Order: sequence, then structure tokens, then C-alpha cells
Amino acid sequence: MILPIYLYGQPVLRKECAEVAKDYPELKQLIADMFETLTQADGCGLAAPQIGKSLRLFVVDGTELAEDYPECASFKKAFINPEILEESEDDIVYSEGCLSLPGISENVIRPVKVKIHYFDEDFQEHEEWLDGFSSRIFQHEYDHIEGNVFTDRISPIRRQFVKTKLMNIAKGKTTARYKCKRNA
Ligand code: NI
Repeated sequence: MILPIYLYGQPVLRKECAEVAKDYPELKQLIADMFETLTQADGCGLAAPQIGKSLRLFVVDGTELAEDYPECASFKKAFINPEILEESEDDIVYSEGCLSLPGISENVIRPVKVKIHYFDEDFQEHEEWLDGFSSRIFQHEYDHIEGNVFTDRISPIRRQFVKTKLMNIAKGKTTARYKCKRNA
């Protein structure tokens, strides 16, 4: 089932999310719905607050980017209760966008690599390093479950520049090409 994507201005996007319990009802169905929603919106990551659920859960699909970013070739999975254990000292700039902030893309500086811990959709535990664009997608989604969005991380000058666009999204004046929930 395709779910509406919550746009900037919806309070759930600003909440720190709660841990997902092992017996969370119909978790597999929720994850399947999130993948379906992500695919039809043509995105590479979708966090639970973006579909209105304040849960520490996100799905990623970087497979379409594999040509430019080979590290994303098999980067299609769900992350449950993820944690960032370590970050590399070196940073890198990438241009980011977000399904909850249609029409905005800005350069964001973040650590190149992150060491992460998470549970997959079978609640199996994993610990690994992510590098390159898979690391970037993870960090962007991780921000969402902490109640942050990528424009919180751009330079003050750029933030000034996107202020009107953000305000328009929050006021419901911006539409998206996918089903979304916005203020009217
Ligand atoms: Ni996003």
C-alpha cells in the first residue's frame, strides 16, 4: 500500500522517534509499504516519521544509483533501531534532497564513513561500516529519526536562501509528484 509522505511542517518530522519493539504489530507489512512508497516516489530513502510514524525505522534503496556509486549496488534494506557507533574524521560534501522537502537540494557536509549497529527486518543484529553514498543515505535517514532534516545542516547563508521554500512547503503551498500529507 502506498502511504502519503508527510511534508515539512508536519510535527511528526520534528520528534525524536521511539524504539521499535520486537513484537511491533505488522512490522513486516509496514516495511513492505514503506518500500512501495519509496519506490513510487523515486527516492533512495524513507524514514518512518515521513509516513507519520514516530519510530526508529527507515528503509533505503540505492540500487538505482549503482552506476555512479557501486557501493549502493546491494544497498536495499530496512534499518530498525539503528545507531551510529563511530564516524570517520574525514568529511565529504554531497548534494542532498528529501521527499519531505520537495524542490530543495543543497550541499551537506557529513563524515565519509560511519560504523553502525542495527536490526534487520527479521530482528537480526548487524554491525558494519558504511562508506561512500550508502553512508550518506544512512546518515540522512538517521537524521529523520532524531527529528532533524538535512536543511538543519546547511550553511547559514544557504539556509537563508531556502527559507521561503521551506515556509511554502510548511504552509501547504508546495505540491509533490507523489501522494503527500501537507498543511492545507
Ligand atoms: Ni529525507
